[in-house]
Amino acid sequence: MPQTVVITGAAGFVGSNLSLRLLRAGHRVIGVDDFSYGNRENLQACIGLPGFRFEERNVTEPKALSDIEGDTIVHLASQKIPRYTNSYRTIEENNVMSSLVIKRALELDARLVFASTSDVYGKNPRTPFSEDSDLVLGPTKVKRWAYAASKIHSEHKIIATGEEKGLHYTILRLFGSYGPNQNLTWWGGPQSVFIAKAFNGEPIELHGDGQQTRTFTFVDDTVQGFVLAVTKPEAAGEIFNVASDPATETTIEGLARLIWGLIRPGEEPKLTFIPYATFGGGYEDVMRRVPDISKISRALGFVPRFGLEEGMRLTIDWQRGRSA
Ligand SMILES: NC(=O)c1ccc[n+]([C@@H]2O[C@H](COP(=O)([O-])OP(=O)(O)OC[C@H]3O[C@@H](n4cnc5c(N)ncnc54)[C@H](O)[C@@H]3O)[C@@H](O)[C@H]2O)c1
Repeated sequence: MPQTVVITGAAGFVGSNLSLRLLRAGHRVIGVDDFSYGNRENLQACIGLPGFRFEERNVTEPKALSDIEGDTIVHLASQKIPRYTNSYRTIEENNVMSSLVIKRALELDARLVFASTSDVYGKNPRTPFSEDSDLVLGPTKVKRWAYAASKIHSEHKIIATGEEKGLHYTILRLFGSYGPNQNLTWWGGPQSVFIAKAFNGEPIELHGDGQQTRTFTFVDDTVQGFVLAVTKPEAAGEIFNVASDPATETTIEGLARLIWGLIRPGEEPKLTFIPYATFGGGYEDVMRRVPDISKISRALGFVPRFGLEEGMRLTIDWQRGRSA
């Protein structure tokens, strides 16, 4: 049955890909974004499609959503990287936005689908991470944990509002997503920056020794998780990891070598290693990040379709077009 889906952060990376997928499936989409990180170009494919409406608004404003109605609200708008300077903004704005979105979902009796992150598992050394794994963060003086803490706070608020006030919700914990429309700076993740460096034949900078691992997810698979959360009744009241096949886990150095090899085949990659100590703020990294996706696969029929090399080829093709 077609729904009206409100998407905060619709002009961003995940939001623009999700908007297009929902519109093509016959749903109506009301996209909201203030263009602080996203852009109009990301929405080109959606503009003009029947059922798409866009509102340029700042979701931290108390009345930003007050005249917007829908069956489901997908809340993507977020501050993401407090590593260098903006940990206050991360904590404050993510909290304010979650509260306003929860309030509006309650008023509309709509389902709230909230984008959380694999970063909430933090430094938990026990992998793979399943939805009931412990969330192990470092000290509050280390800025990077402000993002995970803000998402954990929002998760608690959503779950408590569900229990005490009847909020309908689904929480998705995303593992590093990449693909077309990704932000071309570090905001978009390491692959954006590595691809740009390889295009220019410049050294790829790796943090620490590059042996930290990640499980990168092509955006079509991330979007599949959201579509299932929006459309399947079984998603109600649950938390799900959304990620690729755990077998695609790679070291960051492995990712850099793969990208370099796809762009400059036969050339020895140029890699430089940046000690964590130069980051300031007592930076801490997550050394292994591996998802358990059995819950979403079993409950919602989620099947990740893209391997790392295939997804990276598609992403490189897209980014080549953007850089030209
Ligand atoms: N991309 C990933 O790999 C990843 C991983 C884990 C979690 N997530 C979560 O998924 C969500 C989407 O991530 P993304 O990669 O698409 O990020 P993004 O930055 O590309 O998109 C977020 C969008 O929200 C908008 N936005 C931010 N603050 C706003 C405000 N106050 N009012 C209106 N719009 C605002 C930005 O302009 C941007 O277009 C975020 O909540 C993020 O924390 C993403």
